[in-house]
Amino acid sequence: MRQIAVLTSGGDAPGMNACIRAVVRKAIYHGLKVVGISRGFAGLLDGEWFPLDLASVSDIIHRGGTILRTARSQEFYRPEGQEKGGRLLRGAGIEGVVVIGGDGSFRGAKALYERGLPTVAVPATIDNDIPCTDYTIGFDTALNTAIEAINKIRDTATSHERVFLVEVMGRRSGQIALSAGIAGGAESILVPEIPFSLEAVVDRIERGRRRGKLHSIIVVAEGAASALELGREIEGRIGLETRVTILGHIQRGGNPTAMDRIVASRLGARAVELLLEGTGGYMVGLVGGEVKETPLAQALEQQKTIDRDLYELAAVLAL
Ligand code: F6P
Repeated sequence: MRQIAVLTSGGDAPGMNACIRAVVRKAIYHGLKVVGISRGFAGLLDGEWFPLDLASVSDIIHRGGTILRTARSQEFYRPEGQEKGGRLLRGAGIEGVVVIGGDGSFRGAKALYERGLPTVAVPATIDNDIPCTDYTIGFDTALNTAIEAINKIRDTATSHERVFLVEVMGRRSGQIALSAGIAGGAESILVPEIPFSLEAVVDRIERGRRRGKLHSIIVVAEGAASALELGREIEGRIGLETRVTILGHIQRGGNPTAMDRIVASRLGARAVELLLEGTGGYMVGLVGGEVKETPLAQALEQQKTIDRDLYELAAVLAL
C-alpha cells in the first residue's frame, strides 16, 4: 500500500480534526502518501482531493469542525454513485480509505469496500449512536457544552422559580440527553428510545415543589418531543412559569475536549494500522477502554441501545 485517502462525512463533530491529524501523521510515519477528500462523498464524486503532508495538519488538534469540510451526498446513496467513487479512487492510485463520520458515512464506507477498496470507518458524531463502540468522537465535547448550558440555566431557573426545558440534539438518540440529564441533575429526562408520559413529568415537578424545590429542569432529546410544545402543555397544566432553551448547533461546534482528542487520535491511528495490515471493511471503536475493530457489515446490523440502568438511576437521583 502506497497511498490512502481520508474524508469526513455527515454531521461534523468536535475531534474530527484530531482524527484527520492522527490518520495523516500515522500514515506518513509508515511511509504512506495521504490525500484529503473535501466535502465527504460529495467531494469524492467531484474529484475534490489534494495531498496532505505533516504540516497540513499542524495546529488543528484543538479546533472544532473539520478542515476537510463535510456534506451529505444524495448521489453516493445510489449504486452508480458508489461505483463511480470506487473507480475514481482506483484511477487516482488510492489503495485505502479512512472514512470519519456517523452511520450514513459507515454505509458509504461499506459500499466502497464492496467495490474493492479497503476502507476503515471511524465513528464521529455527537449523537454517540454507533454500536460496537462506547464512544463516538465529538460526544464528550457536545455533552460538556450541554452541561455548561444547563449549569447556567439552573442559576436563572432557581432565581425565578421557573420550570426550564432544555432541548438537546439527538433525532434518533437519547445519549446526549441521558448523560446531560444525569450530569446536570435534571428532574426528568426524555429520550426517543423510551416512551414517557406527560403526567409523570408534571407529577415530578409538583412533588419537587411540595418539598421546596425552587426550579425544575427537564432535558428533552429533540427526537423525543418538541420542547416548545411540551413547555406550553406543562405551563397550561400547572400554571408555573415555563421557559424553553433549544441548544441546537452550538453542541456541534467548539474546541474538542481532551477525551475527544485522545479517542480521535487512538482511533485514527488504528484505522491506518488496519489498512497497512490489509484489513478493510472494518470500523474501529473504543470498547471498555480498548481499541477494538468490528466488521462494518456486523456493526451496521446492530443498533446502539440506551442504558436503561442509567435512565432508572437518573429517576432515583432526581426524586
Ligand atoms: O450530528 C448529529 C445531529 O446532530 C443530530 O442529532 C441532529 O438531529 C442532526 O445532526 C442535525 O443535523 P443537520 O443540521 O446537519 O441536518
